[in-house]
Amino acid sequence: MNPENLPEFYANVIDSVGDGVIVLDSQGMITLMNPVAEELAGVSRRISKGQAFATLFRTDPDLVEMVQKSSASGMSISDYENITLKRGGRSVPLSVTASPLLMADGARAGTIILLRDLTNIRDLEEAVRKGDRLSTLGTLAAGLAHEIKNPLGGIRGAAQLLEMEITEDDELRECTRVILKEVQRVNRIVEELLDLSSPRSLTLTAVNLHKILAHVVFLQQQAVEGRAITFQRHLDPSIPPIMADEGRLTQLFLNLIKNAVEAVEDSGIVEISSRIVSDYSMTQKGERRSRMIAIEVSDNGAGIPDEEMAQLFTPFYTTKERGTGLGLAICQKIVAEHRGMIRGDTEVGKGTVFTILLPLVQ
Ligand SMILES: Nc1ncnc2c1ncn2[C@@H]1O[C@H](COP(=O)(O)OP(=O)(O)OP(=O)(O)O)[C@@H](O)[C@H]1O
Ligand SMILES: [Mg+2]
Repeated sequence: MNPENLPEFYANVIDSVGDGVIVLDSQGMITLMNPVAEELAGVSRRISKGQAFATLFRTDPDLVEMVQKSSASGMSISDYENITLKRGGRSVPLSVTASPLLMADGARAGTIILLRDLTNIRDLEEAVRKGDRLSTLGTLAAGLAHEIKNPLGGIRGAAQLLEMEITEDDELRECTRVILKEVQRVNRIVEELLDLSSPRSLTLTAVNLHKILAHVVFLQQQAVEGRAITFQRHLDPSIPPIMADEGRLTQLFLNLIKNAVEAVEDSGIVEISSRIVSDYSMTQKGERRSRMIAIEVSDNGAGIPDEEMAQLFTPFYTTKERGTGLGLAICQKIVAEHRGMIRGDTEVGKGTVFTILLPLVQ
């Protein structure tokens, strides 16, 4: 190692740390900030340099208080639970360590703050908790679904026989029609439940997403004929085929586009767009900044009230008279099977956007 390059070497080390590093002088002014810290604070180091830490983070009093405690006492303090940054309406849970910066002679020259973004860890914890709940529910549901399928087959068979016995113009014909229709509906629910609760192996082929979207839109267009619903597509033609399960992705987009159509009711716009994004949050999981395909399905329907947002992906959560509430739960499962992400954003009175992120390379 050439000692002349030592400062540059140290600067590179600090810039390459995967956590946020902020160094304060003994007055609490920022002297150094690495790129992850810039990203977390939402300011560049050029602007933050020389600013008081307490000013830059004034919207996060817990963090400021903890750092002040550390610099006043000269002790290293950690908090893995209680600190949350508020950044433009978003909350970022953090693990923070503030330690005194000591010189070779033991004198205190300031404070070093280490910030680790826990967003993905919290999401993961939540997913594990949800997974536990779902697997218990899943075992139960799968058992129940199997039990229902057999008698259902019997009912259908009997109704079909009855239908053959009754003449075309008999009033009872309406009854057999209702029985058969409802049996079909229960059958669909049972199938969906089995689908949700059983592990799936994917059949991967090179899939053209735009072809799937075109197919799903075509089907929905047929279904809403006569209603003033416009479908708009803004697709990025440079998106390459991805390795995925075509049937499962068709199901995913069908569920989402159907929800959008149901949200706009008699008239409205359903918009589908695709683009390539480079997702920052994925880097936190130790992967490289990965390129993802983002597909958005938006509608200008009524939107979803805040208190309902948390329920969206819960099996059987529905606000529709004839909904099963399994649509989005299945979407979430399909997206997870493809190592992707799904998110819903909504504004009451304006509409809803569901964003699906799929890795460009599976
Ligand atoms: N685009 C949307 N706009 C407004 N609300 C939506 C939208 N998508 C989903 N929701 C809400 O989320 C609920 C759950 O959706 P999900 O697709 O899981 O079930 P469902 O549509 O009710 O029934 P199913 O899909 O089984 O027919 C819906 O009942 C609705 O309240
Ligand atoms: Mg639905």
